[in-house]
Amino acid sequence: MTSSPDQSRFSNIRAQAKILDGEDGLHHLRGEFHIPTKEDIKRKTLQQEPQQQDHIDPTQVDHTTSCTYMCGNSLGLQPKRTATRINQYLQTWSTQGVQGHFKPLDDSPLPTWLDADARAAKLMAPIVGADESEVAVMQTLTANLHLLMSALYHPDPKGKHKIILEAKAFPSDHFAVLSQIRHHGLNPDTSMVTIESPYSDDALITTYDIQSVISKHASDTALILLPGIQYYTGQLFDIPTITAFAHKHEITIIWDLAHAVGNVPLHLHDWDVDAAAWCTYKYLNGGPGCIGGMFINSRKSLVTTAITDEEPERGYGNRLSGWWGNDKAIRFQMATKFHPVKGAAGFQLSNPSILDITSLSASLEVFELAGGVQPLREKSLKLTAFLEQCLSILSEDAKKLFRIITPSDPSQRGAQLSLLLAADNILNSVMKHLEENGVIVDERQPNVIRVAPAPLYNSFADCVTFAEVFESALLAVQK
Ligand SMILES: Cc1ncc(COP(=O)(O)O)c(C=O)c1O
Repeated sequence: MTSSPDQSRFSNIRAQAKILDGEDGLHHLRGEFHIPTKEDIKRKTLQQEPQQQDHIDPTQVDHTTSCTYMCGNSLGLQPKRTATRINQYLQTWSTQGVQGHFKPLDDSPLPTWLDADARAAKLMAPIVGADESEVAVMQTLTANLHLLMSALYHPDPKGKHKIILEAKAFPSDHFAVLSQIRHHGLNPDTSMVTIESPYSDDALITTYDIQSVISKHASDTALILLPGIQYYTGQLFDIPTITAFAHKHEITIIWDLAHAVGNVPLHLHDWDVDAAAWCTYKYLNGGPGCIGGMFINSRKSLVTTAITDEEPERGYGNRLSGWWGNDKAIRFQMATKFHPVKGAAGFQLSNPSILDITSLSASLEVFELAGGVQPLREKSLKLTAFLEQCLSILSEDAKKLFRIITPSDPSQRGAQLSLLLAADNILNSVMKHLEENGVIVDERQPNVIRVAPAPLYNSFADCVTFAEVFESALLAVQK
């Protein structure tokens, strides 16, 4: 029997995927994760109820095969070791109570709760290319952006008062900037500058576009907030070049690394980045709403003065503070003298959720197994290019219905490809078809589908499956 050209398109590329998966030195890491099955993603209950089984047509649901999960840009999958570490944490709490704060247990891989934040910062530092003293694992992304802005944004209404951000910034960043400006009694109409894309549809902005806006507003701009990777387009910005340009104009720059952390190699210290914040539930697989991360360059966070009663704030600037930022040696003396820990840890406010930190640290162990972000990036470059190749072989009818808006230059993107649907009102139907056929990706209204093969758990075969199901989804909605 000969196969039709349509069948051979996908069988040829599937054969190629098999070879690439066979050659992939990181393929075994997929086994570190819980990958939902096709049955899991169809089920409407936590557990499969016996009576529900009667209603499920076994020919319609695949009980064993993993779904194709390409959504690490939104929520990373759960590492298997997360449950182990969380159970160890729960056991510590149940058997030790409050002693868990200080008492190390001989056979436990977990640090005392007092040291859990420092250990998490140590695991995180290589992922963002920082000294561990420059990283704090704390709060959440938007809260950390506010904390950084409150420390670094000191507007002078007659001098430098503006904040520059992109016009299509993630809404939380937009709201954070708006509220910071208003908080200082200023007007966003005159103190907020947005970088527009010169291309109407895509929201892509070049380094040149960014530099032009910076140059135009340099004399009265105090701060820039930009994403490392743009959430909608998947565009990776040139962090070192833009940072250096901002500094040339004496402007502080904060990076939102939500989509960059754990996705692309970062060298925040060497790039002389001022400050950055990120979440840990995307490529870092910490779990939904997990604790965030913050980088503050050692230039900005040094504590230079001894504690004095006269000028307690001298030397560590204008930061919002809480007891967990206070020097560990005196934190529990309960004195009302604030002398922050040198570095990012001095920006902490509260004692952190150990449940969160335990979950995050479990996932960061998997990054250690992978050998860090660089080998993952090497695989990621191949995976995303292969996904692009799979999309290039779709039928002409399907290809008319979408285009990739993420830059084709691999150095200007991470794992994610954003697919802009050409027809209006088909997003929901396409997403429904994908889900019904075991494919999980995410959407951004009005018409973008974001697909992210994460190198820790996605395979080259996943890319083929996505392309094949995506083609059938497009052709189905076209009918
Ligand atoms: C780019 C970007 N910034 C900010 C946020 C807000 O994050 P959080 O809700 O953790 O503060 C997100 C969330 O997905 C994001 O993608």
